[in-house]
Amino acid sequence: MSYLPIQQLLKTTHVGTTVTIKGWVRTKRESKNAVFIALNDGSTINNIQAVAEAGQLPEETLKLITTGACLAVTGQLVESQGAGQAVEVKITDVLVYGSADPDKYPLQPKRHSLEFLREIAHLRPRTNTFSAILRIRHALAFAVHKYFNDNGFFYLNTPIITASDAEGAGEMFRVTTLDATKPPLTEDGKVDYSQDFFGRETNLTVSGQLEGELGAMALGKIYTFGPTFRAENSNTTRHLAEFWMIEPEMAFYELEDNMNLAEDFVKTVIRYALQHCADDLAFLDNRLKEEEKTKKKEEQSELGLLEKLQFVISNEFVRLTYTEAIDILVNSKPAKKGQFQYEVSWGVDLQSEHERYLVEKHFKKPVILTNYPREIKAFYMKQDADGKTVRAMDVLFPGIGEIIGGSQREDNLEKLEARMHEVGIEPEVLWWYLDTRRFGSAPHAGFGLGFERLVLFVTGMGNIRDVIPFPRAPKTAEF
Ligand code: 4AD
Ligand code: MG
Repeated sequence: MSYLPIQQLLKTTHVGTTVTIKGWVRTKRESKNAVFIALNDGSTINNIQAVAEAGQLPEETLKLITTGACLAVTGQLVESQGAGQAVEVKITDVLVYGSADPDKYPLQPKRHSLEFLREIAHLRPRTNTFSAILRIRHALAFAVHKYFNDNGFFYLNTPIITASDAEGAGEMFRVTTLDATKPPLTEDGKVDYSQDFFGRETNLTVSGQLEGELGAMALGKIYTFGPTFRAENSNTTRHLAEFWMIEPEMAFYELEDNMNLAEDFVKTVIRYALQHCADDLAFLDNRLKEEEKTKKKEEQSELGLLEKLQFVISNEFVRLTYTEAIDILVNSKPAKKGQFQYEVSWGVDLQSEHERYLVEKHFKKPVILTNYPREIKAFYMKQDADGKTVRAMDVLFPGIGEIIGGSQREDNLEKLEARMHEVGIEPEVLWWYLDTRRFGSAPHAGFGLGFERLVLFVTGMGNIRDVIPFPRAPKTAEF
């Protein structure tokens, strides 16, 4: 049986024709003269109302029509008598595909807490909030591919299983087929990975960048968009153990080109969401307004969700160096009053409280910080002439902190090898990476955008676990 998605039905003029819609019951309401069923099929945030006359549907069928049940409803599409919807379906036939016992079905037509919904992540896509988030997530993913395709980039698939630690942070998940209870050992008692599946120690990737650079040094402009894994034990609202990262890498780009691309890229994909997800964003905007009302006046945010998104796409990001930012932070009120949890001085890695002070209090705009101390950044970043800083850039967003991290890359073989020695990475291990500096090296740059942090920003949600269908975090891998 063919059917019309509600999203199309509400857009086009099918009034007067007989239609079949299929979806899940959101609510059922009975009056003296009629039964009203609100159906949603996930194609849009909007429900369609189906109406039957009292006594029209057999009692056994009516009993099965409860919140969560799945139905096919056939009838004439007519202009609605009631307020709240333009059209509705005058039921001629109902087929119950699957009932949902109201005593057991956990989603009832009331507001559930996000914490509770995380425990039923298998069902939460059936709520308004999560279906809106998932549709926006889809639109953003599509916009990412569209942006790069429109701008001459090639989609490069980098490996998920790797033998290298690109970020040098050592927070990796091991991939092995060895028996965990009795792994083969070498003579000096260590696990003998030469007997493992790949004949060496392997992990899930923390970044596709190193392979991305190989692609850029052949194809010019590439981007990756894939799953990324970090075994950091951070139970925050900004970290996942499994997330999706987008990593463009461009030959002949220097730091400034990299910043220009990053800014244009995020603005373009946010604009795409505003244009293509108007209903869902309006719903989330409203949801956030309701939530804000429960907060104290001084904790309420100045801008609504839609206003905030408009603000970001219509204002230039502030650009300054790490050194300038440290100056601002050291002289800030919270620093002087000892209100920062972590102290700031030149050389420290900025904590999210510092990043958020800069973005939310000082500049009130997205910020791009550049030229960080070399000691707190990865080995591959291009060294500045001062010998102290590297050509790094972090893009900081309100409510999020770091959304993008990137840099111009060190393209000089000797300098790169020297830096690797300093941080304890054997250049031989990354011989293939260094070959790009040996043969036809060139200036190049790139960055990584955490996809979920982008979705977090665009949806206005507060916890990163609520913007990925099935979150992976410490002690969390149920679904
Ligand atoms: O700053 P990061 O670690 O940079 C890299 O991995 C570089 N190789 C990128 C590049 O230059 N090609 O990570 C990049 C971004 C962060 O800014 C953040 O948005 C996101 O990835 N990210 C995470 N998102 C969710 N959960 C985590 N645990 C994340 N770790 C990083
Ligand atoms: Mg970073």
